[in-house]
Amino acid sequence: MKFEIAPNVDWVGKIDWELRKFHGEEYSTHRGTSYNSYLIRDEKIALIDTVWTPFAKAFVDNLAKEIDFNKIDYVIANHAEMDHSGALPELMRHIPDKPVYCTANGVKSLRGHYHKDWNFQVVKTGDKLSLGRKDLVFVEAMMLHWPDSMMTYLTGDAILFSNDAFGQHIASEHMFNDLVVQSELFEEATKYYANILTPFSPLVTKKINEVIALNLPVNAICPSHGVVWRDNPLQIAQKYLQWAADYQENQITIIYDTMWDGTRMLAENIAKGIKQTDDKVTVKLYNISRSDINDVVTEIFKSKAILLGSPTINKGILNALAALIEMVSGLKFKNKKAAAFGCYGWSGESVKLLNDQLAKAGFEVIGDGLKTMWQPGDEELARALLFGKEFAGKT
Ligand SMILES: Cc1cc2nc3c(=O)[nH]c(=O)nc-3n(C[C@H](O)[C@H](O)[C@H](O)COP(=O)(O)O)c2cc1C
Ligand SMILES: [Fe+2]
Ligand SMILES: [Fe+2]
Repeated sequence: MKFEIAPNVDWVGKIDWELRKFHGEEYSTHRGTSYNSYLIRDEKIALIDTVWTPFAKAFVDNLAKEIDFNKIDYVIANHAEMDHSGALPELMRHIPDKPVYCTANGVKSLRGHYHKDWNFQVVKTGDKLSLGRKDLVFVEAMMLHWPDSMMTYLTGDAILFSNDAFGQHIASEHMFNDLVVQSELFEEATKYYANILTPFSPLVTKKINEVIALNLPVNAICPSHGVVWRDNPLQIAQKYLQWAADYQENQITIIYDTMWDGTRMLAENIAKGIKQTDDKVTVKLYNISRSDINDVVTEIFKSKAILLGSPTINKGILNALAALIEMVSGLKFKNKKAAAFGCYGWSGESVKLLNDQLAKAGFEVIGDGLKTMWQPGDEELARALLFGKEFAGKT
């Protein structure tokens, strides 16, 4: 399978319709994904990135229908992660001496993955590789999202091959941004940013401004996952700038888990209290053990404030919340308020534990939280309502 991005620039990747979990089990991909590889034919021929290891043979067989491998002059490895470099060993078996262009860190990680001494050619930001009529220009993108990450710009056609940046986990027969359902596209692009790129937001801002300052025309942005941005391609760069600037909407998200429903009753009454104080704010509730953790992380990303609720279990918190906090701590969200709540029977550690972990994860914790003993009765539910009202007043 292939399709044309521009005359002599073809997509030669793999659409993975079946994928439901990415990065092992860490990231849910409800809409599948694609691994995008691009073949550029000028006087010289360059291949940008490959596909994930399980599709290596299919990729190479497909590519063989497009091009005699001996005619490939340059292999560009924008990123060494297996979802893009996984077919390199299979490809390089056919063309072991062809140059592989990557960053200095790319050499380390490609060697670290495949233990092969390919003909590595190290490139830095601004380095040019002539293809004849057009050039490839390399832009290092260290820690966006790995030390080795880079982007490649094709002059003439004005295409930025951005690798993981600007991607979305979407499998589609319409591989262009103007042909897919816009709400689905932005839902996936937001989830991708929230779950993968948030920790690197300061670098995102810096890199995008650096690329904008180069004043290069951009007719298309070709990421390594999902659709190609060809209609108003810079809209996704603008979105990234907004998302990187400690993005938030007028939303409060309440996330809890419960054994006997008491903590859920608190959650629902807190929500009621928030709404009574502020009828404009969007309030969403999630039982974390029954929800997709990456979708909940995306809701946290969009929130100005969150509330976490857990009953005390064995002097601790329920494990689905512990997993969420572990994930959220690494993402380093900024400029968000938070509070904790939960039921208990005797020792009641959960609320303090949640507050401490929220503070450690960088949230501004409001107050000591709401702790109620055993199943909430009228008095406890009234306290929850009031707690919600007070929280809404402070966010
Ligand atoms: C397995 C188990 C362990 C518990 N451990 C504690 C504990 O260490 N300290 C405590 O205060 N309560 C403990 N509790 C009591 C619960 O916190 C209490 O039943 C609470 O009301 C449950 O809230 P929920 O309805 O939201 O599940 C435990 C309950 C269970 C079922
Ligand atoms: Fe990656
Ligand atoms: Fe990737």
